[in-house]
Amino acid sequence: MIRLGILGSGSGSNMQAILDAIAAGTLAAEISLVLSDLPEAYILERAARADIPNAHIDCHGFKSKFPDEAQLQVAHDLKEAGVELVCLAGFMRLLRAPLLDHFPGRIINIHPSLLPDFPGLYAWTQALEAGATESGCTVHYVDSGMDTGPIIAQAAVPVLPDDSPETLHARIQIQEHRIYPEAIAEATRRLAEDSD
Ligand code: GRF
Repeated sequence: MIRLGILGSGSGSNMQAILDAIAAGTLAAEISLVLSDLPEAYILERAARADIPNAHIDCHGFKSKFPDEAQLQVAHDLKEAGVELVCLAGFMRLLRAPLLDHFPGRIINIHPSLLPDFPGLYAWTQALEAGATESGCTVHYVDSGMDTGPIIAQAAVPVLPDDSPETLHARIQIQEHRIYPEAIAEATRRLAEDSD
């Protein structure tokens, strides 16, 4: 039973999908700690409702930067909670060495495009603007780049002619909720193999 830490800045629908997979018995894991850089993010409320320890990350007033002290604090809190695998789920700040170095090969992210296409913000809008006929989602290991790092799982969806950013993102999210728990199981298997 792997202990997960979740970092998010938004609604937390991916965290919910992970919780649902755990409840359904398809993912052998528990969520030990949920952290958000936005105190009002719904992901924290979801965590509280599910009785999962949760907290706000103090980013010292920086709008998008993730200051080193905050990253060290997060690393400390995750370690103290016994977290073995860190899952970014809509977390909007870039991680760097202070946090990455504490969890080598143990931080994964979900991104709403078929990477390496459309990294960065509003990937579904980027796909529409580029006239792509297909997009999707990717789970990958996190390094210090923007949505770079080795890919664990991907799922494709069609881009339809009358899609708005909202309809395309909603179609992608259905696949996110399916592949994220599966990719966590895969990352867990790899960690177990590495420690054999
Ligand atoms: C997802 O589309 C994810 O791919 C992106 O941010 C969104 C988070 O959604 N990184 P939620 O908070 O899990 O609902």
